[in-house]
Amino acid sequence: MKIAVIGAGKVGSALGSGWAEVGHTIVFGVRDLAKAELKALCERTGSKAALAADAAREGDVVVLALPWPLAENAVKSLGDLRGKIIIDCMNPLAMKDGVLGLERGYTTSGGETVASWIPGAKVVKTFNQVGAEMMTAGHRFKTRPVMFLAGEDDAAKATVGQLVSALGYEALDAGGMKQARILEPFAMVWINQALFRGLGRNWAFGVLRPTN
Ligand SMILES: NC(=O)c1ccc[n+]([C@@H]2O[C@H](COP(=O)([O-])OP(=O)(O)OC[C@H]3O[C@@H](n4cnc5c(N)ncnc54)[C@H](OP(=O)(O)O)[C@@H]3O)[C@@H](O)[C@H]2O)c1
Repeated sequence: MKIAVIGAGKVGSALGSGWAEVGHTIVFGVRDLAKAELKALCERTGSKAALAADAAREGDVVVLALPWPLAENAVKSLGDLRGKIIIDCMNPLAMKDGVLGLERGYTTSGGETVASWIPGAKVVKTFNQVGAEMMTAGHRFKTRPVMFLAGEDDAAKATVGQLVSALGYEALDAGGMKQARILEPFAMVWINQALFRGLGRNWAFGVLRPTN
């Protein structure tokens, strides 16, 4: 599959590297092609980089791995995304009264907001629920960790589910894009434990089932 990863920061470089390793073709969509880290990332993964809109045009799947405050302008500059599968792994994070939280919730979500920016695209919310370094680490767990997916298009969710499985996660369908309203606060559970409660970043969520 040809995957355009828009934003080659912590999440974009992790996902791009993970999928390149299992044989997908990655093009990193960036705004500055001259960065030394980008060159090293491309060499390491056998991938290429292009300006974001050019990369998005090439991708069968387009991954949005951008900082939330920059996302609207960046996403709206990607050109015509109608019909494409879009993975939204962004959390609408914001500081309020000195506390890290979400600037969307209850009556809408980052995922629904992203979908509203790109009508006709098949947006799937996922990969927002654990830290970047865990996203490609699913195979390192004894039991597969879980990654939930939300979105309106079942075929798109099935395709993205394969990309989730390829990184060692159990892909579970959370329902339509409205369910991003629960997946984004769910990410805050990980962030709270990892950043503020001392659990660290080396863990993921799993679904445990009894054996009898
Ligand atoms: N980090 C995590 O553990 C984690 C986990 C789950 C979800 N997320 C979510 O994933 C998203 C990305 O997080 P991150 O930690 O990867 O952030 P990051 O390391 O800051 O990377 C963001 C990347 O976006 C790039 N960018 C900004 N504007 C752009 C544009 N117009 N076109 C192309 N690239 C652009 C930046 O490039 P420049 O170098 O040019 O600024 C940077 O490389 C966030 O929404 C975050 O909430 C993060």
